Amino acid sequence: MKIPITKPYFGEEERRLLLQPLETGWVVQGPFVRQFEEKFCAFTGSPHAVATTSCTTALHLAMRLVDLRPGDEVIVPAFTWIATPNVVEYLGGRPVFVDIDLRTFNLDVRQVSSRITSRTVGILPVHLFGLCAEMDSIQETARRNSLWVVEDAACAVGARYRGKHAGTMGEIGAFSFHPRKSITTGEGGILTTGRKDFDALARTLRDHGASRSDLDRHSGRAGFLLADYEHLGYNYRMTDLQGALGCAQMDRLEWVLAQRSRLADGYRRSLEKLSWLETPAVPDDGVHGYQAYVCLFRPEEPSLANAERLHARRNDLMARLEARGVATRQGTHAPVLLDFYAGKYALRPEQFPNAYLADRLTLALPLYAQMTDEEQTAVVAELEAACGDARE
Ligand SMILES: Cc1ncc(COP(=O)(O)O)c(C=O)c1O
Repeated sequence: MKIPITKPYFGEEERRLLLQPLETGWVVQGPFVRQFEEKFCAFTGSPHAVATTSCTTALHLAMRLVDLRPGDEVIVPAFTWIATPNVVEYLGGRPVFVDIDLRTFNLDVRQVSSRITSRTVGILPVHLFGLCAEMDSIQETARRNSLWVVEDAACAVGARYRGKHAGTMGEIGAFSFHPRKSITTGEGGILTTGRKDFDALARTLRDHGASRSDLDRHSGRAGFLLADYEHLGYNYRMTDLQGALGCAQMDRLEWVLAQRSRLADGYRRSLEKLSWLETPAVPDDGVHGYQAYVCLFRPEEPSLANAERLHARRNDLMARLEARGVATRQGTHAPVLLDFYAGKYALRPEQFPNAYLADRLTLALPLYAQMTDEEQTAVVAELEAACGDARE
């Protein structure tokens, strides 16, 4: 049996909607993208949503909307996909890394205040793997220090914190529709905001700074004239092919999330008895979106002293599972350990012990909406069989 780490689910509706732009001939950003944005607003409760080519480009736009300037400092978690700090770098800002809580893999909110300086302008929390960061504390710290909050909600469709959907608590949120996410448009992203002015500016900036979209020109009067360009923008336009796919995926989102949540419960119940594997934290004041099911390999208390030894054992376990047809992955990486950031800012692993341990010891298990009970039972059986090795 071959069990992949993830697999998008596409059905008849995706096929049907994808054919429509081919039939009409309108394949660039147009009516389907608009419909996709409306569906996303309805689902999340966000007043506005602006589709983009990826979450990275949505976050880049977000940094433009909050007017990030060279030298500005932004608080980011030390364990996240490299795109999070990269968007701060794009505009000459400085990502200030803060260690994570090893239980949730999210920003350790107790450490945020001590990293704020006179140059800090904002906080960029990540809702990693679909678990919301502690937003009350983050927003309180932001308010006290007059900082903005932009949520990296790349993994967080379906994730809720105290009744609010991810991406609707800070000034701006950004989501990803890469195939590793719960729903996908191939590549794609969306920016959410409660601010009308941000919505309007994001729409302009994703289209080279144009004052009028192509669809507007095409369907309105004086379409023969090009738009005005007041801002330095980008081409971050989602295509209508992606928009059509996104509409079909939105229509099955509730089902996808329910499946993922049911499978996550199944893993938790079955894996409880494996003392060497810590399953993901279950929020008591929200809903986990389970973009990924990321465990911690923990045969003994991890520390800086034993991290590399445990890392080698985790990798042996992953290789064994791979040989048996079960794909696993490290959760994500710690940018603070990557050459670019470690070199540029002279960062050392000891400064971010939990991010370092998460980088070395996380283990994501296969999870996708259409995963069968037999497949899940097989994953659990392989983990149980590997148990002896893990305890050595
Ligand atoms: C936390 C986080 N932020 C940002 C991104 C970037 O998303 P995209 O690939 O859509 O640009 C990802 C993608 O995996 C992510 O996990």
